[in-house]
Amino acid sequence: LNYCVPRTRKEIFELLVKGLMRLEYRGYDSAGVAVDSDKNIDNKQNIVLIKKKGKVKALDEELYKKDCMNLEAELSTHFGIAHTRWATHGEPNAVNSHPQRSDKNNEFVVVHNGIITNYKELKKYLNTKGYEFESETDTEVIPKLIKYVYDNREREDLSFSTLVERVITQLEGAFALVFKSCHFPGEAVATRRGSPLLIGVRSKHELSAEHIPIQYNSARINEAVHEKNSHNRPEDISTAVNFTGEGNGIEYYFASDASAIIEHTNKVIYLEDNDIAGVVNGKLSIHRLKHQAGEDPVRAIQTLQMELQEIMKGNFKAFMQKEIFEQPESVFNTMRGRICFDTNKVVLGGLKDHLKEIKRCRRLIVIGCGTSFHAAVATRQILEELTELPVMVELASDFLDRYTPVFRDDVCFFISQSGETADTLMALRYCKERGALTVGVTNTVGSSISRETDCGVHINAGPEIGVASTKAYTSQFVSLVMFGLLISEDRISLQGRRLEIINGLRTLPDMIKKVLAQDENIKSIADELFEQKSLLVMGRGYNYATCLEGALKIKEITYMHSEGILAGELKHGPLALIDKDMPVIMIIMKDACYTKCQNALQQVTARSGRPIILCCKDDPELSKNAYKTIELPQTVDCLQGILSVIPLQLMSFHLAVLRGFDVDCPRNLAKSVTVE
Ligand code: G6P
Repeated sequence: LNYCVPRTRKEIFELLVKGLMRLEYRGYDSAGVAVDSDKNIDNKQNIVLIKKKGKVKALDEELYKKDCMNLEAELSTHFGIAHTRWATHGEPNAVNSHPQRSDKNNEFVVVHNGIITNYKELKKYLNTKGYEFESETDTEVIPKLIKYVYDNREREDLSFSTLVERVITQLEGAFALVFKSCHFPGEAVATRRGSPLLIGVRSKHELSAEHIPIQYNSARINEAVHEKNSHNRPEDISTAVNFTGEGNGIEYYFASDASAIIEHTNKVIYLEDNDIAGVVNGKLSIHRLKHQAGEDPVRAIQTLQMELQEIMKGNFKAFMQKEIFEQPESVFNTMRGRICFDTNKVVLGGLKDHLKEIKRCRRLIVIGCGTSFHAAVATRQILEELTELPVMVELASDFLDRYTPVFRDDVCFFISQSGETADTLMALRYCKERGALTVGVTNTVGSSISRETDCGVHINAGPEIGVASTKAYTSQFVSLVMFGLLISEDRISLQGRRLEIINGLRTLPDMIKKVLAQDENIKSIADELFEQKSLLVMGRGYNYATCLEGALKIKEITYMHSEGILAGELKHGPLALIDKDMPVIMIIMKDACYTKCQNALQQVTARSGRPIILCCKDDPELSKNAYKTIELPQTVDCLQGILSVIPLQLMSFHLAVLRGFDVDCPRNLAKSVTVE
């Protein structure tokens, strides 16, 4: 929303489309925008919707085909909304894409991230009131409902925020919503419950942090007066935040995450569940739907350190490739300031207030989905060794399906790159209800998981855009190892082992660089494999997680069938798959499982299999039996999985490129799965 900042319609389109492109990793099967048209209907500013199936680029092309709109027209105050969708209810097409609307005149238009679980009941009710639905989405009930409240307001003079407040009291499920209406031109209302939403603020005169008056730094929240039939409007009782002193020359950006807006401003306010943010006459105010005892009455305006270049592709073909190559730095950033290599001490600031409680616990439960779950599998053994506690690793969905018993003396870890994965978030709430201590391990400051856990570790890997997770995995891995080191600080018998691991961590970034230097070799192997239908990845012990994660990467972006196999289970089934045509990657590192892995190799070669072996450098014994080898530097056994996963990340990338697929946006998948 630009308030008293002249923008041409073309600039507004560009701004919206660029923002969507940065969020495209969240959804990419259709997209749409809503802006004010040049025309008025019944003396009201008419809203135009432009929606298109496919990627944001398709929408971008569509925008300039609308000859009814003057692109050069300068709009001093204007509020445009846009959305990129990943279908949950209803197939991807223009009608189902957002913004969804209240009626043919587009009186109210809404963009929504999340899922409305009681939409069927609401739809039924609205049907009885004569509202006709055009899409198959759950979202459409929202604009219809706000129009219903508006049309039935009788003589009440309801503000836009109050209308929204009345609508969301009827909604169940998860949502981040932004509303636009021809009845409230130049006004914006946004709200959330369960899905992330932030507001970026940019004033006409770029001010440095020191020059910002006090009201810049905190937005007082006013409890919305919420009595039935109340005539009090939230605005009446609020002290609106006025960023410029005049309310002029200011722009507000509402977005699901900061990557969409960081090029315009780094000043952001993260909304909390049930916050309703409204902009009227250039002034922002935030209200609460319900007051909860003890809640923070202030929303701080944070200054983000994220650089635009951090989220740009640079010279790489895809974000995923860039993120794979960033791993020497991202892993270093995870450790930065946390490991003192002189004293062998580990400091994790986000846990310090809960260390005593953690040390007293009886069991660790580590929960995640997808790649984040694999990070739990990868570190389970070292956590068991260093903490001397039973460690359960759990897929969030299965953990919930089983109603797993959880006790007050359990410590539950929630691993999530985005911090927004619905299943992980629900597992967190489940454990919290049972009184366990909850620890978040996320890559997103301000995310739901980071806010709802008792304490946590931020993995500091930097924004990850590629849908297939890579650098987040290695940073999650390192974070969990650091946790093990922290907990074992006082154990005399473990000091030798701790020292070995700390030294391993110190050299890790350089070792990763050496693995990345094998890229050409890995590509040449991919050149031979890319037309295969299937690819098995086999290993055991510390490297089993690499098999699962490698196979997941291959499935996700190359659409080849791939399976991670525990070599110990080879004889119990998978051996039947082996013949001269089945490609098998075997991970055989010099650790306690070396001999057992060699046995597995014998069994594969005895069935004419042609294994590609991931092994330690200078292992002539293995190279002899291999069809191809990828040699890795050797590190401490429990860290070797960080090095062994990288060739498989690279392999999946090359296979996907050779097969002609869009690496960053695999079909049917989304980066952040905020629905159950
Ligand atoms: C989706 C993504 C995966 C990710 C998983 C868990 O499936 O495509 O890359 O590993 O969600 O996401 P989280 O953000 O919780 O780590």
